[in-house]
Amino acid sequence: MVARGWHPGSWRDMPIRQVPDYPDMAKLAEVEARLARFPPLVFAGEARRLEAALARAGHGQGFVLQGGDCAESFEDFTANIIRDTFRVLLQMAVVLTFGGGTPVVKLGRMAGQFAKPRSSDTETVDGVSLPSYRGDIINGPEFSAASRLPDPARMEFAYMQSAGTLNLLRAFATGGYADLHQVHRWNLGFVERSPLASRYQDLASRIDETLSFMQACGMSDSPQVRETDFYTSHESLLLPYEQALTRVDSTTGDSYACSAHFLWIGDRTRQPDGAHVEFLRGVKNPIGMKVGPSMEADELVKLTEILNPANAMGRLTLITRMGADKLEAKLPPLLRAVKRAGRNVVWLSDPMHGNTTTVGGYKTRPFDAVLTEVRRFFDAHAAEGTQPGGVHVEMTGQEVTECLGGAHRLSEADLALRYQTFCDPRLNAEQSLELAFLIAAELKARRAPSASLPAQAAQ
Ligand code: PEP
Ligand code: CO
Repeated sequence: MVARGWHPGSWRDMPIRQVPDYPDMAKLAEVEARLARFPPLVFAGEARRLEAALARAGHGQGFVLQGGDCAESFEDFTANIIRDTFRVLLQMAVVLTFGGGTPVVKLGRMAGQFAKPRSSDTETVDGVSLPSYRGDIINGPEFSAASRLPDPARMEFAYMQSAGTLNLLRAFATGGYADLHQVHRWNLGFVERSPLASRYQDLASRIDETLSFMQACGMSDSPQVRETDFYTSHESLLLPYEQALTRVDSTTGDSYACSAHFLWIGDRTRQPDGAHVEFLRGVKNPIGMKVGPSMEADELVKLTEILNPANAMGRLTLITRMGADKLEAKLPPLLRAVKRAGRNVVWLSDPMHGNTTTVGGYKTRPFDAVLTEVRRFFDAHAAEGTQPGGVHVEMTGQEVTECLGGAHRLSEADLALRYQTFCDPRLNAEQSLELAFLIAAELKARRAPSASLPAQAAQ
Protein backbone atom coordinates (compact mmCIF):
# COMPACT_ATOMS: atom_id res chain seq x y z
CA MET A 1 0.00 0.00 0.00
CA VAL A 2 1.32 3.41 -0.97
CA ALA A 3 0.83 6.06 1.71
CA ARG A 4 -2.21 8.25 0.97
CA GLY A 5 -1.43 11.23 -1.24
CA TRP A 6 2.15 10.13 -1.73
CA HIS A 7 3.94 9.60 -5.01
CA PRO A 8 7.69 9.67 -5.77
CA GLY A 9 7.45 13.36 -6.73
CA SER A 10 5.05 14.58 -4.00
CA TRP A 11 8.00 16.13 -2.10
CA ARG A 12 8.12 18.80 -4.82
CA ASP A 13 5.02 20.48 -3.35
CA MET A 14 6.57 20.80 0.11
CA PRO A 15 8.97 23.37 1.55
CA ILE A 16 12.54 22.17 1.05
CA ARG A 17 15.90 23.03 2.63
CA GLN A 18 19.46 22.44 1.50
CA VAL A 19 18.72 22.48 -2.24
CA PRO A 20 21.44 23.29 -4.76
CA ASP A 21 20.85 26.23 -7.09
CA TYR A 22 21.19 24.51 -10.48
CA PRO A 23 21.83 27.14 -13.16
CA ASP A 24 20.52 24.90 -15.96
CA MET A 25 17.14 23.37 -15.10
CA ALA A 26 16.71 21.80 -18.55
CA LYS A 27 19.93 19.87 -18.09
CA LEU A 28 18.75 18.78 -14.64
CA ALA A 29 15.52 17.40 -16.16
CA GLU A 30 17.49 15.53 -18.84
CA VAL A 31 19.74 13.89 -16.26
CA GLU A 32 16.76 12.92 -14.11
CA ALA A 33 15.10 11.31 -17.13
CA ARG A 34 18.22 9.31 -17.93
CA LEU A 35 18.69 8.18 -14.32
CA ALA A 36 15.07 7.08 -14.23
CA ARG A 37 15.87 4.53 -16.96
CA PHE A 38 19.04 3.20 -15.33
CA PRO A 39 18.91 -0.15 -13.51
CA PRO A 40 18.26 0.00 -9.76
CA LEU A 41 21.36 -0.37 -7.57
CA VAL A 42 19.62 -2.54 -4.97
CA PHE A 43 16.62 -4.84 -4.94
CA ALA A 44 13.51 -4.56 -2.83
CA GLY A 45 14.04 -8.06 -1.39
CA GLU A 46 17.43 -7.00 0.00
CA ALA A 47 15.89 -3.94 1.65
CA ARG A 48 13.25 -6.17 3.25
CA ARG A 49 15.95 -8.53 4.54
CA LEU A 50 17.77 -5.56 6.07
CA GLU A 51 14.54 -4.36 7.68
CA ALA A 52 14.09 -7.79 9.31
CA ALA A 53 17.68 -7.68 10.62
CA LEU A 54 17.13 -4.16 11.98
CA ALA A 55 13.94 -5.34 13.68
CA ARG A 56 15.91 -8.05 15.48
CA ALA A 57 18.40 -5.42 16.66
CA GLY A 58 15.49 -3.27 17.84
CA HIS A 59 14.32 -6.20 19.96
CA GLY A 60 17.79 -6.68 21.46
CA GLN A 61 18.78 -9.65 19.29
CA GLY A 62 21.50 -7.92 17.32
CA PHE A 63 23.55 -4.77 17.06
CA VAL A 64 23.80 -2.36 14.13
CA LEU A 65 27.18 -1.12 12.95
CA GLN A 66 26.72 1.73 10.49
CA GLY A 67 29.91 3.40 9.30
CA GLY A 68 31.89 4.99 6.53
CA ASP A 69 32.95 8.34 5.14
CA CYS A 70 31.26 11.60 5.99
CA ALA A 71 31.40 12.30 2.28
CA GLU A 72 32.59 9.92 -0.42
CA SER A 73 34.49 11.63 -3.20
CA PHE A 74 35.06 11.08 -6.90
CA GLU A 75 38.80 11.33 -6.30
CA ASP A 76 38.83 8.48 -3.76
CA PHE A 77 37.18 5.97 -6.09
CA THR A 78 39.78 3.19 -5.85
CA ALA A 79 39.68 -0.49 -4.95
CA ASN A 80 42.09 -0.03 -2.05
CA ILE A 81 40.08 2.70 -0.37
CA ILE A 82 36.85 0.70 -0.68
CA ARG A 83 38.57 -2.46 0.56
CA ASP A 84 40.19 -0.74 3.54
CA THR A 85 36.91 0.74 4.81
CA PHE A 86 35.13 -2.58 4.29
CA ARG A 87 37.93 -4.40 6.11
CA VAL A 88 37.79 -2.15 9.17
CA LEU A 89 34.01 -2.57 9.31
CA LEU A 90 34.53 -6.36 9.19
CA GLN A 91 37.11 -6.15 11.99
CA MET A 92 34.77 -4.03 14.10
CA ALA A 93 31.95 -6.47 13.38
CA VAL A 94 33.93 -9.54 14.52
CA VAL A 95 35.01 -7.71 17.67
CA LEU A 96 31.35 -6.98 18.39
CA THR A 97 30.10 -10.43 17.40
CA PHE A 98 32.75 -12.44 19.21
CA GLY A 99 33.54 -10.04 22.04
CA GLY A 100 30.02 -8.76 22.54
CA GLY A 101 28.26 -12.04 21.76
CA THR A 102 25.70 -10.55 19.39
CA PRO A 103 24.90 -10.76 15.66
CA VAL A 104 25.97 -7.57 13.89
CA VAL A 105 24.07 -5.82 11.09
CA LYS A 106 26.72 -4.29 8.81
CA LEU A 107 25.59 -1.11 7.12
CA GLY A 108 28.13 0.98 5.17
CA ARG A 109 27.91 4.75 4.67
CA MET A 110 29.20 3.77 1.26
CA ALA A 111 28.25 3.48 -2.42
CA GLY A 112 26.18 6.68 -2.47
CA GLN A 113 27.13 8.98 0.44
CA PHE A 114 27.79 12.00 -1.75
CA ALA A 115 25.42 14.85 -0.81
CA LYS A 116 26.12 17.08 2.19
CA PRO A 117 23.93 19.56 4.08
CA ARG A 118 25.80 22.77 4.89
CA SER A 119 25.32 25.33 7.63
CA SER A 120 25.87 28.18 5.19
CA ASP A 121 24.96 28.53 1.48
CA THR A 122 28.20 30.37 0.78
CA GLU A 123 31.84 30.20 1.79
CA THR A 124 34.03 33.31 1.92
CA VAL A 125 37.80 33.13 1.51
CA ASP A 126 39.92 36.32 1.34
CA GLY A 127 36.83 38.41 0.62
CA VAL A 128 35.61 36.12 -2.20
CA SER A 129 32.22 34.44 -1.66
CA LEU A 130 31.28 31.28 -3.56
CA PRO A 131 28.57 28.65 -3.14
CA SER A 132 29.49 26.14 -0.40
CA TYR A 133 30.72 22.69 -1.39
CA ARG A 134 27.68 20.36 -1.10
CA GLY A 135 29.26 17.02 -1.92
CA ASP A 136 30.65 15.60 -5.18
CA ILE A 137 27.20 14.66 -6.47
CA ILE A 138 26.42 18.42 -6.58
CA ASN A 139 29.62 20.48 -7.00
CA GLY A 140 33.38 20.29 -6.49
CA PRO A 141 35.41 20.93 -3.31
CA GLU A 142 37.96 23.19 -5.03
CA PHE A 143 37.42 26.87 -4.17
CA SER A 144 36.77 28.25 -7.68
CA ALA A 145 33.62 29.60 -9.30
CA ALA A 146 33.62 26.84 -11.95
CA SER A 147 34.03 24.02 -9.46
CA ARG A 148 31.39 25.32 -7.06
CA LEU A 149 28.71 25.63 -9.75
CA PRO A 150 26.14 22.82 -9.22
CA ASP A 151 26.25 20.47 -12.20
CA PRO A 152 23.52 17.81 -12.72
CA ALA A 153 25.93 15.64 -14.75
CA ARG A 154 27.64 14.84 -11.45
CA MET A 155 24.59 12.73 -10.52
CA GLU A 156 25.35 10.29 -13.31
CA PHE A 157 28.94 9.94 -12.22
CA ALA A 158 27.79 9.39 -8.63
CA TYR A 159 25.45 6.65 -9.86
CA MET A 160 28.31 4.96 -11.76
CA GLN A 161 30.66 5.21 -8.78
CA SER A 162 27.96 3.81 -6.50
CA ALA A 163 27.43 0.89 -8.90
CA GLY A 164 31.18 0.18 -9.06
CA THR A 165 31.59 0.43 -5.30
CA LEU A 166 28.58 -1.77 -4.62
CA ASN A 167 29.84 -4.34 -7.12
CA LEU A 168 33.14 -4.63 -5.27
CA LEU A 169 31.44 -4.73 -1.87
CA ARG A 170 29.15 -7.54 -3.02
CA ALA A 171 32.18 -9.44 -4.35
CA PHE A 172 34.06 -8.98 -1.07
CA ALA A 173 31.03 -9.96 1.02
CA THR A 174 30.28 -13.21 -0.80
CA GLY A 175 33.42 -14.04 -2.82
CA GLY A 176 35.74 -15.21 -0.04
CA TYR A 177 37.24 -11.99 1.35
CA ALA A 178 34.83 -11.88 4.29
CA ASP A 179 35.35 -15.57 5.13
CA LEU A 180 35.94 -15.82 8.89
CA HIS A 181 38.95 -18.05 8.16
CA GLN A 182 40.60 -14.83 6.88
CA VAL A 183 40.15 -12.96 10.12
CA HIS A 184 43.93 -12.68 10.79
CA ARG A 185 44.56 -11.20 7.38
CA TRP A 186 42.13 -8.31 7.82
CA ASN A 187 44.63 -6.36 9.89
CA LEU A 188 45.85 -3.26 8.11
CA GLY A 189 49.60 -2.61 8.04
CA PHE A 190 49.53 0.42 10.27
CA VAL A 191 47.21 -1.17 12.84
CA GLU A 192 49.74 -4.01 13.17
CA ARG A 193 52.08 -1.47 14.75
CA SER A 194 49.45 -0.30 17.18
CA PRO A 195 48.63 -1.24 20.77
CA LEU A 196 45.31 -2.54 19.41
CA ALA A 197 47.04 -5.14 17.24
CA SER A 198 47.67 -7.71 19.95
CA ARG A 199 44.10 -7.42 21.24
CA TYR A 200 42.80 -8.00 17.74
CA GLN A 201 45.23 -10.87 16.99
CA ASP A 202 44.25 -12.52 20.26
CA LEU A 203 40.58 -12.35 19.31
CA ALA A 204 41.37 -13.62 15.80
CA SER A 205 43.24 -16.61 17.29
CA ARG A 206 40.24 -17.46 19.44
CA ILE A 207 38.01 -17.33 16.37
CA ASP A 208 40.47 -19.63 14.53
CA GLU A 209 40.37 -22.10 17.40
CA THR A 210 36.59 -22.06 17.44
CA LEU A 211 36.44 -22.71 13.70
CA SER A 212 38.96 -25.58 13.96
CA PHE A 213 36.99 -27.06 16.82
CA MET A 214 33.77 -26.89 14.82
CA GLN A 215 35.47 -28.55 11.87
CA ALA A 216 36.98 -31.28 14.08
CA CYS A 217 33.51 -32.00 15.43
CA GLY A 218 32.28 -32.55 11.90
CA MET A 219 30.24 -29.33 11.76
CA SER A 220 30.79 -28.25 8.20
CA ASP A 221 31.18 -24.54 7.51
CA SER A 222 27.93 -22.76 6.86
CA PRO A 223 27.56 -19.81 4.47
CA GLN A 224 27.47 -17.60 7.61
CA VAL A 225 31.16 -18.42 8.09
CA ARG A 226 32.18 -18.03 4.45
CA GLU A 227 30.07 -14.99 3.53
CA THR A 228 28.55 -11.94 5.12
CA ASP A 229 25.56 -9.67 4.59
CA PHE A 230 26.65 -6.12 3.88
CA TYR A 231 24.21 -3.28 3.20
CA THR A 232 24.61 0.29 1.93
CA SER A 233 23.16 3.57 3.16
CA HIS A 234 23.41 7.32 2.70
CA GLU A 235 21.65 10.56 3.57
CA SER A 236 18.59 11.06 1.39
CA LEU A 237 19.37 14.70 0.69
CA LEU A 238 19.42 15.21 -3.07
CA LEU A 239 15.79 14.39 -3.82
CA PRO A 240 15.86 14.73 -7.64
CA TYR A 241 18.45 11.90 -7.63
CA GLU A 242 16.53 9.81 -5.10
CA GLN A 243 13.25 10.23 -6.95
CA ALA A 244 14.86 9.25 -10.26
CA LEU A 245 16.11 6.01 -8.70
CA THR A 246 12.79 5.08 -7.10
CA ARG A 247 11.25 1.92 -8.56
CA VAL A 248 8.02 -0.01 -8.07
CA ASP A 249 8.70 -3.52 -6.77
CA SER A 250 6.88 -5.88 -9.10
CA THR A 251 6.19 -8.46 -6.40
CA THR A 252 4.46 -6.08 -3.95
CA GLY A 253 3.58 -2.95 -5.95
CA ASP A 254 5.43 -0.86 -3.35
CA SER A 255 7.89 1.93 -4.16
CA TYR A 256 11.50 1.48 -3.09
CA ALA A 257 14.33 4.00 -3.19
CA CYS A 258 16.83 1.90 -5.14
CA SER A 259 19.96 4.03 -4.68
CA ALA A 260 20.78 2.15 -1.43
CA HIS A 261 19.25 -0.33 0.98
CA PHE A 262 18.76 2.24 3.75
CA LEU A 263 18.34 6.03 3.52
CA TRP A 264 18.24 8.53 6.33
CA ILE A 265 17.00 12.08 6.88
CA GLY A 266 19.61 14.48 8.27
CA ASP A 267 19.21 16.62 11.35
CA ARG A 268 18.84 19.77 9.22
CA THR A 269 16.05 18.46 6.97
CA ARG A 270 13.71 16.63 9.35
CA GLN A 271 10.83 19.16 9.42
CA PRO A 272 7.56 17.15 9.75
CA ASP A 273 5.96 18.93 6.76
CA GLY A 274 9.14 19.33 4.75
CA ALA A 275 10.14 17.71 1.46
CA HIS A 276 12.67 15.23 2.88
CA VAL A 277 10.21 13.70 5.35
CA GLU A 278 7.59 13.61 2.59
CA PHE A 279 9.83 11.63 0.24
CA LEU A 280 10.98 9.02 2.74
CA ARG A 281 7.57 8.44 4.31
CA GLY A 282 6.37 6.84 1.06
CA VAL A 283 9.24 4.51 0.16
CA LYS A 284 9.22 1.05 1.69
CA ASN A 285 12.93 0.76 2.53
CA PRO A 286 14.03 0.73 6.13
CA ILE A 287 14.81 4.38 6.87
CA GLY A 288 16.62 6.45 9.46
CA MET A 289 16.38 9.90 10.95
CA LYS A 290 19.08 11.87 12.73
CA VAL A 291 17.97 13.24 16.08
CA GLY A 292 19.98 16.16 17.46
CA PRO A 293 19.71 18.13 20.70
CA SER A 294 17.10 20.55 19.32
CA MET A 295 14.51 17.76 18.88
CA GLU A 296 11.46 18.07 21.16
CA ALA A 297 9.76 14.93 22.49
CA ASP A 298 6.32 15.61 20.98
CA GLU A 299 7.81 16.46 17.61
CA LEU A 300 9.79 13.22 17.65
CA VAL A 301 6.70 11.14 18.42
CA LYS A 302 4.84 12.92 15.61
CA LEU A 303 7.68 12.15 13.19
CA THR A 304 7.64 8.47 14.15
CA GLU A 305 3.93 8.42 13.30
CA ILE A 306 4.48 10.08 9.92
CA LEU A 307 7.47 7.93 8.96
CA ASN A 308 6.27 4.62 10.39
CA PRO A 309 2.46 4.66 10.44
CA ALA A 310 2.28 0.85 10.68
CA ASN A 311 4.60 1.03 13.73
CA ALA A 312 6.72 -1.83 12.36
CA MET A 313 9.95 -2.52 14.22
CA GLY A 314 12.87 -2.21 11.77
CA ARG A 315 11.21 0.34 9.53
CA LEU A 316 12.50 3.40 11.43
CA THR A 317 15.90 3.87 13.03
CA LEU A 318 16.53 6.96 15.16
CA ILE A 319 20.18 7.98 15.06
CA THR A 320 20.82 10.21 18.06
CA ARG A 321 23.70 12.70 17.91
CA MET A 322 23.49 14.79 21.03
CA GLY A 323 27.10 15.48 21.99
CA ALA A 324 28.65 13.85 25.04
CA ASP A 325 27.91 16.87 27.25
CA LYS A 326 24.25 17.20 26.24
CA LEU A 327 23.23 13.55 26.04
CA GLU A 328 22.28 13.08 29.69
CA ALA A 329 19.86 16.00 29.57
CA LYS A 330 18.52 15.50 26.05
CA LEU A 331 18.24 11.78 25.33
CA PRO A 332 16.29 10.33 28.31
CA PRO A 333 13.16 12.51 27.74
CA LEU A 334 13.08 11.33 24.10
CA LEU A 335 13.51 7.66 25.09
CA ARG A 336 10.67 8.04 27.61
CA ALA A 337 8.32 9.82 25.17
CA VAL A 338 8.81 7.28 22.39
CA LYS A 339 8.39 4.40 24.83
CA ARG A 340 5.28 5.95 26.41
CA ALA A 341 3.74 6.45 22.96
CA GLY A 342 4.40 2.78 22.17
CA ARG A 343 6.37 3.63 19.03
CA ASN A 344 8.67 0.87 17.74
CA VAL A 345 12.06 2.25 16.73
CA VAL A 346 15.67 1.11 16.59
CA TRP A 347 17.93 3.47 18.56
CA LEU A 348 21.45 4.13 17.25
CA SER A 349 24.14 6.37 18.69
CA ASP A 350 26.01 8.68 16.34
CA PRO A 351 28.78 9.83 18.71
CA MET A 352 30.46 11.92 15.99
CA HIS A 353 28.26 14.83 14.93
CA GLY A 354 27.56 16.29 18.37
CA ASN A 355 31.25 16.33 19.30
CA THR A 356 32.79 18.45 16.56
CA THR A 357 35.14 21.29 17.49
CA THR A 358 37.65 23.40 15.60
CA VAL A 359 41.29 23.29 16.69
CA GLY A 360 43.99 25.25 14.89
CA GLY A 361 41.74 25.69 11.85
CA TYR A 362 40.89 21.95 11.67
CA LYS A 363 37.44 20.55 12.33
CA THR A 364 38.08 17.67 14.70
CA ARG A 365 36.49 15.38 17.29
CA PRO A 366 38.13 14.29 20.53
CA PHE A 367 38.08 10.49 20.69
CA ASP A 368 37.35 10.70 24.42
CA ALA A 369 34.13 12.62 23.72
CA VAL A 370 33.13 9.95 21.18
CA LEU A 371 33.67 7.19 23.76
CA THR A 372 31.86 9.18 26.43
CA GLU A 373 28.81 9.73 24.21
CA VAL A 374 28.62 5.98 23.47
CA ARG A 375 28.91 5.07 27.18
CA ARG A 376 26.23 7.61 28.13
CA PHE A 377 24.01 6.26 25.34
CA PHE A 378 24.23 2.77 26.87
CA ASP A 379 23.65 4.18 30.37
CA ALA A 380 20.57 6.15 29.28
CA HIS A 381 19.01 3.08 27.67
CA ALA A 382 19.77 0.95 30.72
CA ALA A 383 18.11 3.53 32.97
CA GLU A 384 15.00 3.85 30.77
CA GLY A 385 14.64 0.14 29.99
CA THR A 386 15.01 0.75 26.25
CA GLN A 387 17.23 -1.02 23.76
CA PRO A 388 20.59 0.40 22.56
CA GLY A 389 20.42 -0.90 18.98
CA GLY A 390 23.74 0.12 17.50
CA VAL A 391 26.20 2.83 16.50
CA HIS A 392 26.70 5.11 13.51
CA VAL A 393 30.26 6.34 12.96
CA GLU A 394 32.29 8.31 10.47
CA MET A 395 35.41 6.26 9.86
CA THR A 396 37.87 5.20 7.21
CA GLY A 397 40.42 2.44 6.67
CA GLN A 398 43.05 5.05 5.84
CA GLU A 399 45.72 6.16 8.32
CA VAL A 400 44.27 9.64 8.72
CA THR A 401 44.85 12.09 11.55
CA GLU A 402 41.47 13.77 11.82
CA CYS A 403 40.17 12.94 15.32
CA LEU A 404 42.21 13.74 18.44
CA GLY A 405 43.30 11.04 20.93
CA GLY A 406 42.98 7.26 20.75
CA ALA A 407 45.69 4.68 21.40
CA HIS A 408 48.28 6.77 19.55
CA ARG A 409 47.17 9.91 21.43
CA LEU A 410 46.89 12.05 18.31
CA SER A 411 47.62 15.62 19.35
CA GLU A 412 46.57 18.98 17.94
CA ALA A 413 49.91 19.19 16.15
CA ASP A 414 49.30 15.77 14.52
CA LEU A 415 46.08 16.89 12.81
CA ALA A 416 48.04 18.49 9.97
CA LEU A 417 49.90 15.24 9.15
CA ARG A 418 47.19 13.38 7.23
CA TYR A 419 43.99 15.40 7.34
CA GLN A 420 42.23 14.10 4.21
CA THR A 421 38.49 14.30 4.74
CA PHE A 422 36.30 16.19 2.28
CA CYS A 423 33.86 17.05 5.02
CA ASP A 424 33.79 15.91 8.67
CA PRO A 425 36.71 14.31 10.59
CA ARG A 426 36.68 10.49 10.65
CA LEU A 427 38.02 7.87 13.04
CA ASN A 428 41.00 6.08 11.55
CA ALA A 429 41.21 2.27 11.56
CA GLU A 430 42.91 2.10 14.93
CA GLN A 431 40.43 4.45 16.62
CA SER A 432 37.55 2.51 15.04
CA LEU A 433 38.84 -0.77 16.44
CA GLU A 434 39.32 0.77 19.86
CA LEU A 435 35.72 1.97 19.79
CA ALA A 436 34.56 -1.53 18.80
CA PHE A 437 36.39 -3.09 21.76
CA LEU A 438 34.75 -0.60 24.12
CA ILE A 439 31.28 -1.33 22.73
CA ALA A 440 31.90 -5.08 22.89
CA ALA A 441 32.76 -4.73 26.58
CA GLU A 442 29.56 -2.71 27.18
CA LEU A 443 27.46 -5.31 25.36
CA LYS A 444 29.05 -8.17 27.26
CA ALA A 445 28.62 -6.48 30.62
CA ARG A 446 24.99 -5.71 29.91
CA ARG A 447 24.29 -9.29 28.86
CA ALA A 448 25.59 -10.43 32.24
CA PRO A 449 23.99 -7.87 34.53
CA SER A 450 25.59 -9.33 37.66
CA ALA A 451 29.01 -8.21 36.44
CA SER A 452 29.51 -4.70 37.84
CA LEU A 453 26.50 -2.92 36.40
CA PRO A 454 24.07 -0.57 38.06
CA ALA A 455 20.92 -2.33 39.27
CA GLN A 456 18.61 -0.78 36.69
CA ALA A 457 20.55 -2.42 33.84
CA ALA A 458 19.24 -5.78 34.96
CA GLN A 459 15.61 -4.86 34.26
C1 PEP B 1 26.20 13.40 8.53
O1 PEP B 1 25.81 12.31 8.97
O2 PEP B 1 27.23 13.53 7.84
C2 PEP B 1 25.44 14.62 8.92
C3 PEP B 1 25.44 15.71 8.19
O3 PEP B 1 24.80 14.46 10.09
P1 PEP B 1 23.64 15.30 10.81
O4 PEP B 1 22.49 15.35 9.88
O5 PEP B 1 23.40 14.48 12.04
O6 PEP B 1 24.22 16.65 11.14
CO1 CO C 1 29.34 14.09 8.75
